[in-house]
Amino acid sequence: MLRTHTCGELRLNDAGKTVTLCGWVQKSRDLGGMTFIDLRDRYGITQLAFNMDSDESLCLAARKLGREFVLKVTGLVKERESKNMQIPTGEIEIVVSSFEVLNESVTPPFTIEENTDGGDDLRMKYRYLDLRRASVRANLQLRHQVAKQTRAYLDAKEFIEVETPVLIKSTPEGARDFVVPSRMNPGEFYALPQSPQTFKQLLMVSGFDKYYQIVKCFRDEDLRADRQPEFTQIDCEMSFVEQEDVLHMFEGLVKHLFKTVKGVDIESLPRMPYADAMRYYGSDKPDTRFDMKFVKLNEVVKGKNFKVFDDADLVVGICVKGCADYTRKQLDELTDFVKRPQIGASGLVYARVNNDGSIKSSVDKFYDEAALKLWTEKCQAQPGDLILVLAGEKEKTRKALSELRLEMGTRLGLRDKNKFSCLWVVDFPLLEFNGEEGRYFAMHHPFTSPKPEDLYLINQMLREHREEILTDRSPGQIKLPRANAYDMVINGVEVGGGSVRIYNKELQSKMFELLGFSQEEAQKQFGFLMDAFQYGAPPHAGIAFGFDRLCSLFGGSDTIRDFIAFPKNNSGRDVMIDAPSSIDEKQLKELNISLQA
Ligand code: AMO
Repeated sequence: MLRTHTCGELRLNDAGKTVTLCGWVQKSRDLGGMTFIDLRDRYGITQLAFNMDSDESLCLAARKLGREFVLKVTGLVKERESKNMQIPTGEIEIVVSSFEVLNESVTPPFTIEENTDGGDDLRMKYRYLDLRRASVRANLQLRHQVAKQTRAYLDAKEFIEVETPVLIKSTPEGARDFVVPSRMNPGEFYALPQSPQTFKQLLMVSGFDKYYQIVKCFRDEDLRADRQPEFTQIDCEMSFVEQEDVLHMFEGLVKHLFKTVKGVDIESLPRMPYADAMRYYGSDKPDTRFDMKFVKLNEVVKGKNFKVFDDADLVVGICVKGCADYTRKQLDELTDFVKRPQIGASGLVYARVNNDGSIKSSVDKFYDEAALKLWTEKCQAQPGDLILVLAGEKEKTRKALSELRLEMGTRLGLRDKNKFSCLWVVDFPLLEFNGEEGRYFAMHHPFTSPKPEDLYLINQMLREHREEILTDRSPGQIKLPRANAYDMVINGVEVGGGSVRIYNKELQSKMFELLGFSQEEAQKQFGFLMDAFQYGAPPHAGIAFGFDRLCSLFGGSDTIRDFIAFPKNNSGRDVMIDAPSSIDEKQLKELNISLQA
């Protein structure tokens, strides 16, 4: 080893020892008689001291050291005169007796300190330098802990980690595939896995019983703060289990991770049916750190000649505690917020319950105090509360109010990053209608099992599909079968999702047929899975957690990018290595690809 200690290790009781440290020059201060250097490595920062009086030439040499030079220094540990209690090594310094420059550095493009002067783009371009900063490194250390504790828990439960291939054929998970041309099979392509879904099911057929993998997945979809084109899942599957067993096993994992990584006890992990999540929060991933549940107001608002409400499919409100004193300006801001194209509401109605009990609304023309009293009763509003109401088509209105609820939660400081509220959302619909494509899609994926008691609905839909009358009916009129599918939601983030699987060839073919696959297409795409089902497939079920999302939650950030060593930017580019990039003619030729416009 070139060093005896790290830069984060020495304390007051090491005073008097002669040590050798290695690290990078973070900062140097020249005070005339003395020169101080902060030497940094992965473990921390230690102050180096050079004294002009005791060794002039060494001190002069130290003054020439630039930022990010790599040093090996030897010296004596000494108690500092002015201590820095902000850092663990702040009570000591090293009085340097000799040093060696292991490598020089050109001036870095930004300061590598906590309060860096580098903007986002610059830090992404020089990500390897940004990774020298303590906070960025801490995020990756946290990621390492989450992975380690995940393995510890699953290992103790006898799960086996198995790697599945990366060059595969597409699995339909709803996003676009990234594809890779095959040189040896001209005109043919591999797809990168959106998840190892079919492979883990095949491993169950092979009898592996309990599988997991911390695995890279690839999805070519629009990026957001919680989405990357390549991301990591904790992917799991179990045999001879029912939904309850999976929920129980992975509640255990989540509790274990919170306890070991964050020191937090998760007391309860409630379950909420999808229908309730939509009814009370307008979202299948409700943020339950705060209440503010939706209240349907249809019965108390209709028939008062207010056309917006009379024509609406749904009139729904939230009661915001203690906000009756919101100013006109604040209410206008909220109106502008819901009218933004991303939210899409046409307007916002409000009612203030004043401290004296009187009620004042933005629609007083249509609703007298007695009528408004009914609103407040429904919403259980107290003096001092503000009721916010949206109206329109059911799904759109719920979505918009969900955004407004989150906005109010943020404004009122109810979304504390150090508070964690976990729940399972269960009983998802098996299918959802896609208006653009005019057909039903699997809400989770096509391998998800319907609830046995809803199987008759599948048969009914299939009959209508075969008679080509299924899509004649509006999707709202059709009672959709529910799935044995579940999502783990924490603080309004979908951190995991899974389902009980179909393991019977006939039912799987019926599902493909209902999803619009011809028999030939189903055979071509999924013949391998359906064939496997003929050889004694066990009942099985599983789940995958978004590993990056879990890490960012634990780290108190909304952006998963901060927890990935080398992430892509919002256009899916790695600006450090400049990818994607064009390839040369020869390579294209070998791959049988021509780039004609
Ligand atoms: P699903 O598609 O729900 O299920 O994905 C599982 C979890 O992965 C995370 N996730 C993402 N994280 C970051 N960037 C993305 N682009 C991204 N997409 C998804 C989410 C999500 O909950 N094969 C099934 C699982 C199963 O049925 O067992 C699957 O992939 O946190």
